[in-house]
Amino acid sequence: MCGIVGYVGKKEAQDVLVGGLRRLEYRGYDSAGIATLDDNDEAHLARSVGKISELSSVLEKAPQTGHLGIGHTRWATHGGVTETNAHPHHAGDIYLVHNGIIENYKELKAELKDYDFASDTDTEVLAALIDSNYKDGVSLKDAVAKSLKRIRGTYGIAVFSPKEPGTIVVARLGSPLIIGLGHGETLIASDASALLGYTREAIYLNDGELAVCTKDGAEVFSLDLKHLDSKPETIEGNVEQIQKSGYDHFLLKEIMEQATTLHNTLSGRINPKLGKMHLGGPNLTEKEMRDINHVVIVGCGTAYYAGLLASYFMEQLVPDLTTEVVIASEYRYRSFHLPKNSVALIVSQSGETADTLACLREIKKRGIKTLGIVNAVGSTIAREVDGGTYVHAGPEISVASTKAFTAQVVAMLMFGGMLAEYHGGDPKLIAEYTRELSILPEEIEKTLNTHRETMEQLAKKYAKYDDALYLGRDTAYPIALEGALKLKEISYIHAEGYASGELKHGPIALIDDRFFEVFTILDNWLFDKACGGLHEVRARGGKTIILTNSKADIEADDIVRIDSPIKLLAPILLNTLQQLLAYYIAIERGNDVDQPRNLAKSVTVE
Ligand code: AGP
Repeated sequence: MCGIVGYVGKKEAQDVLVGGLRRLEYRGYDSAGIATLDDNDEAHLARSVGKISELSSVLEKAPQTGHLGIGHTRWATHGGVTETNAHPHHAGDIYLVHNGIIENYKELKAELKDYDFASDTDTEVLAALIDSNYKDGVSLKDAVAKSLKRIRGTYGIAVFSPKEPGTIVVARLGSPLIIGLGHGETLIASDASALLGYTREAIYLNDGELAVCTKDGAEVFSLDLKHLDSKPETIEGNVEQIQKSGYDHFLLKEIMEQATTLHNTLSGRINPKLGKMHLGGPNLTEKEMRDINHVVIVGCGTAYYAGLLASYFMEQLVPDLTTEVVIASEYRYRSFHLPKNSVALIVSQSGETADTLACLREIKKRGIKTLGIVNAVGSTIAREVDGGTYVHAGPEISVASTKAFTAQVVAMLMFGGMLAEYHGGDPKLIAEYTRELSILPEEIEKTLNTHRETMEQLAKKYAKYDDALYLGRDTAYPIALEGALKLKEISYIHAEGYASGELKHGPIALIDDRFFEVFTILDNWLFDKACGGLHEVRARGGKTIILTNSKADIEADDIVRIDSPIKLLAPILLNTLQQLLAYYIAIERGNDVDQPRNLAKSVTVE
């Protein structure tokens, strides 16, 4: 999704802005630009299509000076990928960057007859609207507030004008904006990672708020210009976490650091000696915990698959619990009904996914308790849920989600383990899950280190295929779905995840030598069933890779066995092999692993 940065202070704004945009590259974009105000109150604009390096080349030829500015990475929604459509946009005395979508921009554009529009964007219309209100001594803050009241849609904006040097006005509705409070400087960003290294103190704007930022800090107002007291919060994370730290790609770093980050997820939340789990955040009374009889888990993409896997664990742990796992983009528009004593787990790495956020709001309207399972601290979903828990996986930079998936599954499992205590759950089973959780980080580390080269070799063999089927049963079924998503989103191979028991109901018609199959087979009571379909697939020329924790003989073209005392949570271990396979196949195919084509790290628009 698009990224916003802003700066006002003593440093050269251009350097801070370009550095900040580089921090936001991982979110996905197709053009970028900055605008600065020099010490003679002259504004300068530079924009380019393509990567930040293109923008840097433009700035090398025409460097900008000045200690105030705004910058933007654009992921095209309204209007094609062109320099003219890139942000910042300029109209009269207004320079503006914008995340979000203005639904009534055409109607507003028709009113703004005195303006010639160079671009096809809704953003340029907003710049003109603000400029049209910025007359006759009206302050920039007032002009912005008056204009935003006309907007239908979502926005995160940063605006400056040569008429008010030293001032940047920001506002948000549905698209995050954070104000970093430095010493003699103030920074603005749509994502906290752009602020790391400058300050750890930030104001997270809420929907419907705007702020006037100067080098001395920020004043927050409602759109009716009532002054609001805003409490600065501490930004989590550090610069090292948003650097590759010697890895070729963020994706490999995030796969390999899962053991470390999982320690953070588990920290203080499990007691293997007592065989218990405990999450601090749900904010549920003992009575509420006892009354819960239904859990609905909401997410998109990998977050949805994490919820699907967690639902199997929860059903095993909590005797009288029913669960449903829903895709947010579907559920938000359904006429769904939830039993009174339901609780909704809202799963999101970024905490900004539009469909998931919309579901959260729909569920809250029904008076159902909502708990966030979120990674990004201070994100919109984290701020709007009734309670919940941060998964503490650290900033996840690569578009493909890996360490956050593992952390989300574990966090929801711990919620299930806690719930089980209130519902007569089998103490031995709770203890067994707790024991496995306590050794999961080291077992992930062992699995990754033991099999990393094997997966790299397999990738060389299978990278040439254009079709793949991922198959699994029981708790390996959500893993099959997740493995297929990982492969398709970074290698661009057509990959489908399927319940292996479903093969004979249709998909087996597909199989021929175009395909390779990845079977995840668990050493559990369904082992023989899980092998079902394998022989049929092989008989039709499918090339098969088996990922398993079983020691049994299995016929396959390639087999990767993990040796671990972990049984219940084996799907999580085996999934890390899928992550490596997808990574190395994408490398073999020469793809941009961290920023795959057409994808964004956080889908903040519908
Ligand atoms: C996963 O690898 C993808 N990047 C995507 O499916 C992602 O999981 C989905 O967009 C949900 O994002 P969120 O967890 O930030 O809400």
